[in-house]
Amino acid sequence: MSKLTPPLPKFLRPTPPRPGDKDDPGRNGDGNGNGKPSRGEQLKDGALEGTAQVVGYLDERTGASPFLRGFLYRKTPKGTNWFYTLGSATMFAFVSQSVTGVFLAMYYQPDVSRAYESAAHITNEVFLGELVRGMHRWGSTVMIVLIFLHLGRTFVFGAYKYPRELNWVIGVLLLVLTLAMGFTGYLLPFDQRSFWATVVGVNINASNPVIGPYLADFLRGGAEFGGATLSRFYALHMLLIPGLIAALIGAHLYLVAKLGTTAPPWLKAEKKELSKEEI
Ligand code: HEM
Repeated sequence: MSKLTPPLPKFLRPTPPRPGDKDDPGRNGDGNGNGKPSRGEQLKDGALEGTAQVVGYLDERTGASPFLRGFLYRKTPKGTNWFYTLGSATMFAFVSQSVTGVFLAMYYQPDVSRAYESAAHITNEVFLGELVRGMHRWGSTVMIVLIFLHLGRTFVFGAYKYPRELNWVIGVLLLVLTLAMGFTGYLLPFDQRSFWATVVGVNINASNPVIGPYLADFLRGGAEFGGATLSRFYALHMLLIPGLIAALIGAHLYLVAKLGTTAPPWLKAEKKELSKEEI
């Protein structure tokens, strides 16, 4: 095992103590003084053994444990604080959006004559529909707020500098895609407000130099707003953009694990005593 790989947590190590082992600390016995494990201890042993076997089975076939241990037990600099949780909070918001989105997709119909009714049906008739729709709607705002706070943290702490420039660039792509999620999702309820807001948004895109008109045509799915626009926004919102976000989050986290976390800027580098030869 490499020096960098921290040991497997105790509860996952194979061959947990056998029932009745003398050197097994914390064992109370069945209370009759005969050294036999109690029913609770037997169950605990069974659960530990089962977990260790499953982990062992998966590890033998994937070789994933050194990577996972390296990732989960990686060193973090002194002075890390709550601001460092903003990236994970953004990720949690993305997971929540994905889960609630799957449930909404079970009832939503991306058809101009059905979209509004199906969204109203989710709110008014589906069990917990209003809650799930509300979570998805507010969750999109929460994710955008969190992503900007996370961006602000990495900027203020200088985490965009060498060697993390690529992770910053991936972050910018994630920001653009997250905003695109908000834009494409806004049309889906297909009420007056979402329709006209999207018309304005697409027209703003159309005013881009050179690529503007092509971009607007692509978003509308032709020269006019209609069924093609809704299907297109639905496909982008449901498949393409979340797929890209998930892949980029994977690359982002890989780089975080590989490069480590930036120390807070107010921590000075430790001074090393120089030897005579070095002076
Ligand atoms: C879906 C969006 C995003 C997710 C899920 C995400 C997730 C994360 C996580 C979990 C970390 C490690 C913990 C932390 O430092 O907070 C991290 C670090 C980082 N993120 Fe993001 N991030 C996202 C967007 C962004 C954006 C928009 C930027 C900047 C444009 C960015 C730049 C960085 C950088 C430079 C680091 C390294 C921080 C360091 O070394 O201290 N990320 N990200």
